[in-house]
Amino acid sequence: MRHRYKYLLSTLVVLSSTFLNANNLLTPISSLIDSEVDTFILGKSFFTIPWVEAPSATTARDGLGPLFSANTCINCHPKNGKGSVYNSKGNISRSLVTRLSINQKTDKKIGFTPEPTYGSQLSINAIPGVPYEGKPSRSYIDKTVILNGGKKVILQQPIYGVTDLRYGELSKDVIISQRVAPALVGLGLLEQISDEQLLANEDIDDKNRDGISGKANRVYSSETFKIEIGRYTWKASVPTVKHQVAGAMSNDMGLTSPLFPDETCSKSQKECLASPKARDKFDVPMKRLDAVTFYLKNLKAPQYKQYKKGLKIFKQIACASCHIPNFTLDNGKDIHPFSDLLLHDMGKGLADGRVEFKATGAEFRTPPLWGISVYKKILKNRVNFLHDGRAKTVEEAILWHSGEAEQSKNSFIHLLPKQQKVLIDFLERL
Ligand code: HEC
Ligand code: HEC
Repeated sequence: MRHRYKYLLSTLVVLSSTFLNANNLLTPISSLIDSEVDTFILGKSFFTIPWVEAPSATTARDGLGPLFSANTCINCHPKNGKGSVYNSKGNISRSLVTRLSINQKTDKKIGFTPEPTYGSQLSINAIPGVPYEGKPSRSYIDKTVILNGGKKVILQQPIYGVTDLRYGELSKDVIISQRVAPALVGLGLLEQISDEQLLANEDIDDKNRDGISGKANRVYSSETFKIEIGRYTWKASVPTVKHQVAGAMSNDMGLTSPLFPDETCSKSQKECLASPKARDKFDVPMKRLDAVTFYLKNLKAPQYKQYKKGLKIFKQIACASCHIPNFTLDNGKDIHPFSDLLLHDMGKGLADGRVEFKATGAEFRTPPLWGISVYKKILKNRVNFLHDGRAKTVEEAILWHSGEAEQSKNSFIHLLPKQQKVLIDFLERL
């Protein structure tokens, strides 16, 4: 009976992927065979169902914390879409994560130096008996930009802060960076772009003198114990999906795994160090890590819809120099991520001062733009763009571009209002 139920469920998932147009970010690719559908469903469950603290009757899902930010992945990646800066009640959302570091010689394996007491991320939650670390805060300074045609756009520059600190003051050299959770689109496909293809677009010294000098991040891998090309997160400091799944388990949920075997308590966090441990060696053994990775790598990316007029302007004003529309994979398949996965200096306004491996304080990875039409729908009026979610519209996001993208941004400002609208429509249909 149980077997039949599982079979029915698998069939349903496969059917929904075949007949429904993937107008969401939850549908598996259609070529999965039965046993793969089972792994997909298992991975999805570990991604979706809340974890609990150890010890508990359900050892499969215990080990949460002691310090953590949320108890399930979907808290921050709703329907696999973007996180938001504010929740529906207007308070800062848990999907806005506060990263902490100090500017010192960077650690070779993690790519920065964590804050001595609070570590690399401010935990806004903890299990009973352990104080959480603190809460994020932010305020804004407004700036006005006037577009060709007279439209006024108000940009809000966020000032990052923390309140309610439970373990004393932060180091006076602390660098605070707020990061919003990105949408989880086409992650498996991005892993199939070869290193050579990415490196072919690097132009570190801007030899072609177009003002744009992409650079790949080079990061330490806890899987291969070598330096690899970084592809994921806002500063491309993570080499593979699996690495990021294990990193998220550790940083965001306090779950240990073979890749990150240690709890995130620092030396001075006594209650955290003394709290009960799970019975198993790892909260997330390799097989479950692999299942979540399989789930994320086998989600269908939204179909690219041709919009020639929009793409033409996108190319004309050099958006496509960084947001590369097309890659052909080794298997001959064309994908449309609209990213080069490289780091670019985006200027002072966006800089967060935080170093991650080869990424400087002003450099960010070009975020892939596929899926905007879908995650915009998921978040409705709370949709946001850029690493800290400061932009409420794609138009605001463009107007924050500076540094290597200064010229491209200025070209946008000088487009005819009609052309500006075509470009925005194009982006919102991706
Ligand atoms: C507390 C909020 C939070 C939770 C919980 C969370 N994430 Fe994330 N996730 C983020 C943020 C923020 C980033 C961007 C990190 C950065 O740039 O440094 C991110 C990035 C990612 C990325 C990289 C995406 C890309 O395009 O670069 C993946 C994959 C991911 N998370 C998977 C997971 C998985 C799997 C879980 C559950 C184990 C999870 N996340 C739980 C906030 C969260
Ligand atoms: C020099 C490279 C470069 C150029 C040129 C460039 N971008 Fe970007 N773009 C980036 C980077 C890097 C970010 C992320 C910045 C951040 O988060 O602080 C970004 C962010 C964005 C975002 C927000 C995406 C998200 O998920 O939050 C949009 C939308 C966008 N760019 C559209 C455009 C358009 C349209 C153009 C042309 C007018 C353009 N970009 C030109 C590098 C570039």
